[in-house]
Amino acid sequence: MAVTTRPEPTVFVIFGAAGDLSWHKLIPALYSMFVDHWLPEKFLIIGTGHRRLQEDEFRSHLKAGVDKYARRTMTEEDWSRFASHLSFMTADLEKPEVFVELARKLADQDREWNARANHIFYLGLPPGMVEPVARELARVKINQDRQRSRIVVEKPFGRDLDSARALNHSLTELFHESQIYRIDHYLGKETVQNILAFRFANTLFEPVWNRNYIDHVQITVAESEGVGNRGHYYDQAGALRDMIQNHLLQVLCLIAMEPPVSFSADEVRNKKVDVLHAIRPITPEMVQTCAVRGQYGAGWIESQPVDAYRTELNVAPDSATETFAAVKLLVDNWRWQGVPFYLRTGKRLPAKISEVSIQFRPVPHQPFPATAVMEARPNRLIFAIQPEEGLLLRFEAKYPGPTMHLSPVIMQFFYREAFKSTPPEAYETLLLDVMLGDATLFMRADQTEAAWEILAPILNLWGTGRPTDFPNYQAGTWGPEAAATLLAQDGRNWIMPTFLQCQEDTAVCRVAMVQT
Ligand code: BG6
Repeated sequence: MAVTTRPEPTVFVIFGAAGDLSWHKLIPALYSMFVDHWLPEKFLIIGTGHRRLQEDEFRSHLKAGVDKYARRTMTEEDWSRFASHLSFMTADLEKPEVFVELARKLADQDREWNARANHIFYLGLPPGMVEPVARELARVKINQDRQRSRIVVEKPFGRDLDSARALNHSLTELFHESQIYRIDHYLGKETVQNILAFRFANTLFEPVWNRNYIDHVQITVAESEGVGNRGHYYDQAGALRDMIQNHLLQVLCLIAMEPPVSFSADEVRNKKVDVLHAIRPITPEMVQTCAVRGQYGAGWIESQPVDAYRTELNVAPDSATETFAAVKLLVDNWRWQGVPFYLRTGKRLPAKISEVSIQFRPVPHQPFPATAVMEARPNRLIFAIQPEEGLLLRFEAKYPGPTMHLSPVIMQFFYREAFKSTPPEAYETLLLDVMLGDATLFMRADQTEAAWEILAPILNLWGTGRPTDFPNYQAGTWGPEAAATLLAQDGRNWIMPTFLQCQEDTAVCRVAMVQT
């Protein structure tokens, strides 16, 4: 897979480089980018961490991660060429001299390359460390080149509206907004970006993309995994903060935004933030009827027994943290008035699957005899985000035969069939964009704050009232009963993810879609 523009010489500094994110995502992504010639000729990755690691220990630790997770198969030859660009710096980030040394290294590297390289600082750090590290970077003045010096901030971006505001305030004092890349890896997923292509590169759908034709929208991001070794973080976060505040709201924005005038970073982000501002504020009284939380008890996933959340590593035995959240949101603007957006996400659900379903209204008048329409279903469009990547459209057709009999059929598009290629990992796309200085797929300060503001009443209420019914869903099921009630009160039900059954067999997929 080739790129049209390769970045300028780059030094990529990873704070927290011995951690899981580097091992699992960043280095495997950089390796595949290297193999595909996406990286510049002159590049250096400096990993920092507090452990005393020899350079070769660091490299062999990362090699195992690349072997396991990189999109590109690891070969010894490619690895050793890539590894020659990797270096490690033991760094106690509380010591100011570390940053002086880092600044010196960057200056030395520029001299050696005889170039002014991009300096990218990836803050894969616990939330409390982000601001102090940014401050130290500014103190040694490596924030000053607005064109070439960038910081990448991982989620969680704050833990509520106040903390996000405070963090934005401090970071924008130290770096210009154009230098701050707040990452939400969902925006790097090929299928998420395809929502934009689908909506704005085709004339067919935009005229019907509104309240006159769409009944409601469902966004499901389900995971079968539990919290693994992330109990420390997750037990303080929960599903609403971990997933809905960022990933699911970002997907909602792409579905609901107005057509941008251009594809420039600010234009796209303006249109997205307009959606967040249009979401009807949730009052404390409304929380009961528009938000549901759940926590998994023990159960079964793929015929294997799994433990309850409260018995997971680093989780409090009486934890009140939600591992499932569902919300109903309304977008108060001309296009979407009265169209509910239902969002749900959870851990230990039956499968790892993310889908967006656009449910169209039934036809306004049915001219066919009752016997012809017994199986008729309103149109539905599915954006499959993962694991299968594609798009399905359900519509009605005449069943072959002498009488008029309607039957749902589907039209489908699968990435792997259409393009015969494996899409890049989200982190590859996003890291390339940071190197190229393109912030379109990153969150701007106002977006993060608007997202927190929407959820604040729910977070407040959940934070003060302990749930009395936790655990309230069995691992391996689709969440608590109340999630079904959330839609039932509107006369609807959750759509069973269509792609659940079609990883190997697209015919099965077709059947799933026509039956629901
Ligand atoms: C992360 C969350 O942002 O996204 C995790 O912190 C979650 O809890 C992960 O598992 C899901 O990402 P993906 O790409 O596997 O759907």
